[in-house]
Amino acid sequence: MATVLAIETSCDETAVAIVKNRNVLSSIVSSQVAIHQQYGGVVPEVASRQHVEIVNHAIAQSLEAAHLDWSAIDGIAGTCAPGLVGALLVGLTAAKTLAMLYQKPFLGIHHLEGHIYASYLSDPTLEPPFLCLLVSGGHTSLIYVKDCGRYEVLGQTRDDAAGEAFDKVARLLELGYPGGPAIDRLAQVGNPKAFALPEGQISLPGGGFHPYDSSFSGLKTAVLRLTQKFQQSGEPLPIADLAASFQETVAKSLTKRAIAGARDFGLDAIAIGGGVAANRGLRQHLQAAAERHNLRVIFPPMQFCTDNAAMIACAAAEHLERGHTSRLTLGAQSRLSLNDVMTLYQTQQTVLPTL
Ligand code: KG4
Ligand code: ZN
Repeated sequence: MATVLAIETSCDETAVAIVKNRNVLSSIVSSQVAIHQQYGGVVPEVASRQHVEIVNHAIAQSLEAAHLDWSAIDGIAGTCAPGLVGALLVGLTAAKTLAMLYQKPFLGIHHLEGHIYASYLSDPTLEPPFLCLLVSGGHTSLIYVKDCGRYEVLGQTRDDAAGEAFDKVARLLELGYPGGPAIDRLAQVGNPKAFALPEGQISLPGGGFHPYDSSFSGLKTAVLRLTQKFQQSGEPLPIADLAASFQETVAKSLTKRAIAGARDFGLDAIAIGGGVAANRGLRQHLQAAAERHNLRVIFPPMQFCTDNAAMIACAAAEHLERGHTSRLTLGAQSRLSLNDVMTLYQTQQTVLPTL
């Protein structure tokens, strides 16, 4: 049972956690949302500086909250891709430095693999193969999870990520940043059938539509047109109805693709990951559809849907158990496909140095 301390600084949360296999011993998340709110989005340079300010304190806090010292830690992990390079570098450098100092194995972790592993924190008995619907601020992917480190991306968004669409529509409705939680709250009191909005299908060259790929930019433009129409006519904007109709369209579109993926590949479980997995509309739609198709749905605990380090530590503990470790020369990468996760590790065979 490996105990891993992980550091996550890929975007605007400075997070440190300690996980013993699939049990969270401590999880510290310091959000920068209040700082970035004034700019309407994340400012990369501000994010990096803030991580530098906070990271050491968060590391000390995570050990204290878990009542552990370094002797109890088997490995140290840092998110290394994808994300804002300057922000990633802060956590990654801290993780490498601690690994050198305390002579522990070091692991670089793919941020999206972390989001997949968040579901293991609500169901420690979950085992591949299963389908993962990953819906965050930067990604919308349907992933066939074959094993630890072995993923096949079946479908993606062709333009905006689901979370990005929530954030952009929230900005149109003047709900502030981040938009997802605000739309989720308003949708509770709106009518989801008030406006028929386009789902955003991707046409295939030979006819028909792509079963797993999605597009959200047309949906966002449709909401923009509606708001302009109301503004021109001088009528008050029905923001709750617009929020509910938008959320319903996104939830239906994602649910349809997830069910199709699970059925087509003969998988009996669907795990959800990423900030949008916290969305109540999506949770309800997916749960209901899964029950109709006899599929199991696993949602991460609410606090582990959005960015956190517990999911990163959970993925790292599993890699460590399998003898996967990273070189200390591993760099931060702004982009890296989930298909290439295993390029982050050297397995146990020794690599002779070239003289
Ligand atoms: O996974 P995450 O914390 O960061 C990334 O890796 O991108 O996801 C953040 C995204 C934001 O776009 C935010 O608006 C969205 O998740 N989000 C939500 C909800 N909570 C967060 N979207 C819809 N409903 C929510 N309840
Ligand atoms: Zn994330």
